[in-house]
Amino acid sequence: MKITIRLILSLLFVAILVAGVFSYFQIRLERQDQIEELNRRCILLAESLQESIKNLLPPNYKTKLNQLVEKFGNRERLYGIVIYDGQNDILAITPGLTVRIPEHIAQLKSSFDEDTTKYSVETLHSKEIHTYIYLMKEDGKVLGKLGLFHDISYINTRLENIWRYNFIRLLTLSLLIIVTTVLVVRWSIVGPIAKIADRLKYLRMGKSTKNIDIPQGDILGPLAIEVTHLAKSLSIARAKAEEEARLRIIGEKTWTAERLKEHVRMELGEKNLILVSNREPYMHIKKGRKIESIIPAGGLVTALDPVLRACGGVWVAHGSGDADVETADKDGKLKVPPEEPLYTLKRVWLNKEEEEGYYYGFSNEGIWPLCHITHTRPDFRLEDWIYYQKVNEKFAEAVLEEIKNENEPLVIIQDYHFALLPFLIKSKRPDAKVAIFWHIPWPNPEAFSICPWQKEILVGLLGADLIGFHIQFHCNNFLETVDRVLESKINWEQFFVEKGGQTTFVKPFPISVAFPSLLDAQFAESRSNELIKSEIFNELGIASEYLGVGVDRIDYTKGIIERFKAIERFFEKHPNYIGKFTFVELGAPSRTHIKRYHDLIAEVETTVEKICWKFQSINWKPIVFLKAHHSHQDINRYYKGSDVCMVTSLHDGMNLVAKEFVSARNDEDGILILSQFTGASRELQDAIMVNPYDIEQTADAIYTALNMKVEERKERMQHLRGVIRDRNIYRWAGNLISTLNRIRISKAVEEPV
Ligand code: G6P
Repeated sequence: MKITIRLILSLLFVAILVAGVFSYFQIRLERQDQIEELNRRCILLAESLQESIKNLLPPNYKTKLNQLVEKFGNRERLYGIVIYDGQNDILAITPGLTVRIPEHIAQLKSSFDEDTTKYSVETLHSKEIHTYIYLMKEDGKVLGKLGLFHDISYINTRLENIWRYNFIRLLTLSLLIIVTTVLVVRWSIVGPIAKIADRLKYLRMGKSTKNIDIPQGDILGPLAIEVTHLAKSLSIARAKAEEEARLRIIGEKTWTAERLKEHVRMELGEKNLILVSNREPYMHIKKGRKIESIIPAGGLVTALDPVLRACGGVWVAHGSGDADVETADKDGKLKVPPEEPLYTLKRVWLNKEEEEGYYYGFSNEGIWPLCHITHTRPDFRLEDWIYYQKVNEKFAEAVLEEIKNENEPLVIIQDYHFALLPFLIKSKRPDAKVAIFWHIPWPNPEAFSICPWQKEILVGLLGADLIGFHIQFHCNNFLETVDRVLESKINWEQFFVEKGGQTTFVKPFPISVAFPSLLDAQFAESRSNELIKSEIFNELGIASEYLGVGVDRIDYTKGIIERFKAIERFFEKHPNYIGKFTFVELGAPSRTHIKRYHDLIAEVETTVEKICWKFQSINWKPIVFLKAHHSHQDINRYYKGSDVCMVTSLHDGMNLVAKEFVSARNDEDGILILSQFTGASRELQDAIMVNPYDIEQTADAIYTALNMKVEERKERMQHLRGVIRDRNIYRWAGNLISTLNRIRISKAVEEPV
């Protein structure tokens, strides 16, 4: 039976049952009320009659009494009156009553055994007759009885009306139930299910499902979410398979997620890959009463999530979201990505003091400005250094626990938060193969030498079998620093350091992004980039022609102020672009507990305000600063919709925004303006290169970008995409993993200095 009919019948059954039971009790009560009402009226009538009857008793009683009963007996609903004397003999009776109900009158007399007032209801000649016997008394002596007979068919008529009324009500209700059920079932169940089925059908057939909206929330919400995930996974799998097939056909060597997976399986066999970083790839945060999973901003997560998605394994990281504890199990573990679990995230918990000292203090007020030459002075505090050591030990424990059952495990540590971790792990597990990848620049030995704990940091790092930097220049700086600070043997041909029986290779591995862009597979975009651009302008309430974009964590190394000054200068030099070019900065607040970062946000805001004030009109702004954490999907839209992307870091290990922008531009258009002080500038030679300190040059670069011929734009973008296609994140991970795995482990690790 169809669900709709089943639903309607069940609802009708319940409605009829409820209406029937309620009507039954309503009728019973109503009848009782009516009879009681009648009794009350009988008493009143009898009492008023009693007075008249008393005065009419012998000698003339019969005629007068008969006149009286005749007179009253004709009243509406009153069937008749009988007056008895003290011996129960009839003194007077409404004419015709003995003819109409003779048995009853006769029976009544025989039932006068008690001298009490009483009433009864009986059906006589198919009429319901209410009989009321009233005792007439004077000074306690019974004078006689008064019998009042009422035809109560009017009560039955009234009760029938109630039944009828209730039946009509039930009928109306039933009709409404039927109509509402049909509509609700169609709107909320049948319609959405049909849409979901359509979407699945289109997916199966490999057609676009863009125009089929599927229901959100409500009862089908969970199903819709699953279908959306399924759709995404299917399109990604299909895109990957197509790409693999294409590459096989043309015999290309391009690295893909699939190829990396195969490569890692061949290299590691059943071994798990262990990755360690401070920043976790998925952070759970509370939004009102809901918990949301967000992907934190920053190049490290952007680059490494696709790697673990492809290879699986365990990612150990600081659980820093305010809903992280409740979304992980008792060991701090959970499967991620939340919508399509592919690897394990193990969260390490830090208390406030540890986070303050290790993360904000030593890592970000000490090492970060030490390694970035941006004229922000590093602060080295002993208490921060103590917490830095403690937290490195805590992470070492977490990693050792993960690898306790593995033989020769592979551990890849990320970044400057864990300079001591390689040594801590190797000293406990000499069989482990340990690499650390330093995502930020390594300065020259003079700059590094101001760190009071430079020796300890170098010894900690040299616990690793492999240290990776983005570019050879940083490798050289590192080796020179080791040369100056530690007693060791450095091989400048093969770039390794030997110290106390441990060999550490130092090599460049320029990190990259997924290519083709993972987002393209996930959010297959059928709209043209021009349309996306006009949508963005509409959302911002701006009428403009050209769109520029910047995507950054709000960090003083990113050259955001310098970029805005260059934009201001561009408008001064080329006023014909006022009203025509708008730059949108997608700025994610970062490390805001640190005063320098906190102040920077205010500085950025003031600069934007000043420039806007100078040039803006009612429907147009030169710069829009969107200070928020933006989703990858949103950022991707801006990459696609913009004419120019500006990366103006004052110093940057690599900068993956530049590479993401290129990866997102499958239309082979768009111009990248890139700082010469980024690691990315070594590879992305077809960008317009700038020195961000040179405001005039950067302003001219904007002009050049906006005036570049379409052929040249295309050619440059094709070259840039070629570079990223060849050197994508899968190649980076494949190289790093096989280099580490193929290193022959040296015997001993010496004690720290
Ligand atoms: C840089 C660092 C990463 C860091 C990222 C975001 O890219 O190299 O290690 O994760 O910035 O910074 P945050 O402090 O938010 O982790």
